[in-house]
Amino acid sequence: MIIISPSVLAANFAALGKDVKKVEDAGAEYLHLDVMDGLFVPNISFGASVIGALRKDSKMFFDVHLMIIDPDRYVEDFVKAGADLITIHYESCEDPVSVLRHIRSLGVKAAVAIKPATDVSVLYPILSEIDMALIMTVEPGFGGQKLIPHTIEKVASLRAYAKENGYDIDIEVDGGIGVDNLGLLTSAGANVIVAGSSIFKAEDASSAIAQMREQERLFPCDK
Ligand code: DX5
Ligand code: ZN
Repeated sequence: MIIISPSVLAANFAALGKDVKKVEDAGAEYLHLDVMDGLFVPNISFGASVIGALRKDSKMFFDVHLMIIDPDRYVEDFVKAGADLITIHYESCEDPVSVLRHIRSLGVKAAVAIKPATDVSVLYPILSEIDMALIMTVEPGFGGQKLIPHTIEKVASLRAYAKENGYDIDIEVDGGIGVDNLGLLTSAGANVIVAGSSIFKAEDASSAIAQMREQERLFPCDK
């Protein structure tokens, strides 16, 4: 079964709590929270205080995607704010493994993300350090972009390698995903699906999510 993780970047920031409730009621399991520092990516979003405020009214699993330089400085703040899983970028720090260990030592799940141009094989030696890998399907920084097709092959390569070597990791995909292309990603081996625009900007979030699950039924993920 896939996990749906709506990205609040596409929500209405003037009514964030209400929008989060909407996707929670629509049956999404995770809430994807994109933290951007204006340095690692050319955009600024929000930080731990916004996540802490949302935590008070939501039971969803908080999937925090850190697009920030030197994320080790802030992981404790995000755990305190209510993160259940923290994803750092492989490209954002000198020693990703030590940051991943730090995250796990705080009692939450750890994940590592790679940008479209980063070779997927950089993840192979560190699979024992992560609960999830995030394969970016767009350049990180902005919602509403088009999926970059070659990233789908990276998902397939990672799933094949993980299976061959006995790692039952989650593979998350993020950027430009909707009902039209979700089947390509699930059949390649992705099982955690981030979707911003295609859920928050849909007329009916429940039916958008139901259509996504139907795609997974047609194009199952062989995890
Ligand atoms: C991009 C973010 C994504 C983004 C996805 O840097 O990591 O999570 O919000 O938005 P959509 O689904 O609209 O491409
Ligand atoms: Zn994201």
